[in-house]
Amino acid sequence: MIEFTHAYKIYPGPTHAIKDVSLKINKGEFVFLTGPSGSGKTTLFRLLSAYDRASSGRVSVMDFDLAKITKKQIPFFRRRIGVVYQEFRLLKHKTIFENVSLPLEIRGDSARAIRARTEEILAEVGLLHKTNETPEHLSGGEQQRVAIARALVHRPGLLVADEHTGNLDPTLSNEIIKLFEKINALGTTVFVATHDYSLVGKYKRRTIEIQNGSMVRAS
Ligand SMILES: Nc1ncnc2c1ncn2[C@@H]1O[C@H](COP(=O)(O)OP(=O)(O)O)[C@@H](O)[C@H]1O
Ligand SMILES: [Mg+2]
Repeated sequence: MIEFTHAYKIYPGPTHAIKDVSLKINKGEFVFLTGPSGSGKTTLFRLLSAYDRASSGRVSVMDFDLAKITKKQIPFFRRRIGVVYQEFRLLKHKTIFENVSLPLEIRGDSARAIRARTEEILAEVGLLHKTNETPEHLSGGEQQRVAIARALVHRPGLLVADEHTGNLDPTLSNEIIKLFEKINALGTTVFVATHDYSLVGKYKRRTIEIQNGSMVRAS
């Protein structure tokens, strides 16, 4: 499902954001990515969601070789994954419904199918009552749940969530992990980055740890 082979990401300046990372995640796994702030978690997620290219080495996700993916192929690749960004990236002037349903609109689903599925996923994240609000009227935790709903609405084969607990209180953060576990049980591969070691300790899932861009734990 995901394979990094000796991948490096070097930003201008002396920063090696990712150093010689090799890892493999199989279809159906639930994996945490942990490490302190600045260790390279977001960079690793940017590489595997084709927002950035590795400086060297190989990154492949679902049969796509991301070193060679063309601009034209990227939208097709993205349709098969769901990404929760650390900074949400919601459209400010659109309603919650419009934000969440966007992947289905792009895919060309019928209006009726779009409504049914969007309401279903909004109910799952506990936000059905906010359907017609715009993001600025929501708390940070609510915006995060909108981002999660948008990442899941098209039932992706892979969900990548970057620091999704950052703005959630512990109860909600547990609820969201339970939702991730549920979609994982239905077959979606889940890869979750968090600097919260207590969360990782609690769920006892496979954990990949990076420090200063290098992998220090892969089990
Ligand atoms: N666009 C960028 N340009 C230069 N350096 C960057 C850029 N993005 C991240 N970095 C650097 O790469 C390292 C890893 O950052 P990041 O992947 O955001 O870590 P994390 O998500 O674990 O907090 C940090 O030292 C950071 O400052
Ligand atoms: Mg980060």
